[in-house]
Amino acid sequence: MNDLCIELQKGSSANVKFEVSDTYNRELLLNIKHLFERNFKVMHKARNEIRVITYSGKKLVLKSFRIPSPVNRFAYSFIRDSKAKRSFDNALVLKSLETNTPEPVGYIEFFSGKMIKESFYVSAYSESDFTIRTVLLDKEIENRDEILKEFAEFTHSLHAKNIYHKDYSPGNILVKKVNSGWKFEIVDINRMRFGKISYKNRIKNFVKLWADDDTMRTIIREYASFSGDNPAKAERDALKWLHSYKARINFKKRLKKLAKRKKDAPLNV
Ligand SMILES: Nc1ncnc2c1ncn2[C@@H]1O[C@H](COP(=O)(O)OP(=O)(O)O)[C@@H](O)[C@H]1O
Ligand SMILES: [Mg+2]
Repeated sequence: MNDLCIELQKGSSANVKFEVSDTYNRELLLNIKHLFERNFKVMHKARNEIRVITYSGKKLVLKSFRIPSPVNRFAYSFIRDSKAKRSFDNALVLKSLETNTPEPVGYIEFFSGKMIKESFYVSAYSESDFTIRTVLLDKEIENRDEILKEFAEFTHSLHAKNIYHKDYSPGNILVKKVNSGWKFEIVDINRMRFGKISYKNRIKNFVKLWADDDTMRTIIREYASFSGDNPAKAERDALKWLHSYKARINFKKRLKKLAKRKKDAPLNV
């Protein structure tokens, strides 16, 4: 990691803990709540919130992780690293393995007493043309087969370096046209594993993409040509695991809907 030219700075005080890749961005982290609350572009609002800001002429992405449940607050305070810290640490590992992810800037954690309340991960904004979601959904998109082939090769290169993105879903893969072809970058990197990956996990890595059967076949066939897996077997296994994943998630969704309908139903009194 020392050939990264990253000057790591750590800091802590009564209620914050942070690490930053460049001393210059220390002020940014310490002012993050203020910067975040100002009216900047909101990219994505789900459980975590993402905002893009321009800071000293650079476009940055701020990701806020709120920790509402007391159980999780306890766990992230005493048992495991916060999602922001894990994102930062994983980005440094990815960089050391020469794998594309937006440049890590830093993370900061806010505590109330000994309990963590909130954490932020900051990375450089990466220009991309689209995410892999667009390619998976739009069958007419120009160069679709070429992009899928290079995507399969990219995924194989991750696996060959023992990099496993546990949330390999369509929004987490940025795609950009470059001179030599297509460039892929991974984001949302707080859940990763580094180490040897079994055949089953390698193939299962694709299921969260939620591709249709034909697209999955194309990707897996290309993947097998790089990994050396038996293509017919890989295709069969991929579809089997894709179908059971989809069935499980759809079942969960139906249960949730049912529970919601029950909760919202007027009381028959
Ligand atoms: N550093 C970045 N540069 C450019 N786009 C980004 C960056 N980080 C995230 N994004 C975009 O924001 C979206 C949401 O980010 P993500 O980290 O996946 O959040 P979530 O946990 O809500 O899925 C991604 O799908 C991607 O399009
Ligand atoms: Mg995501």
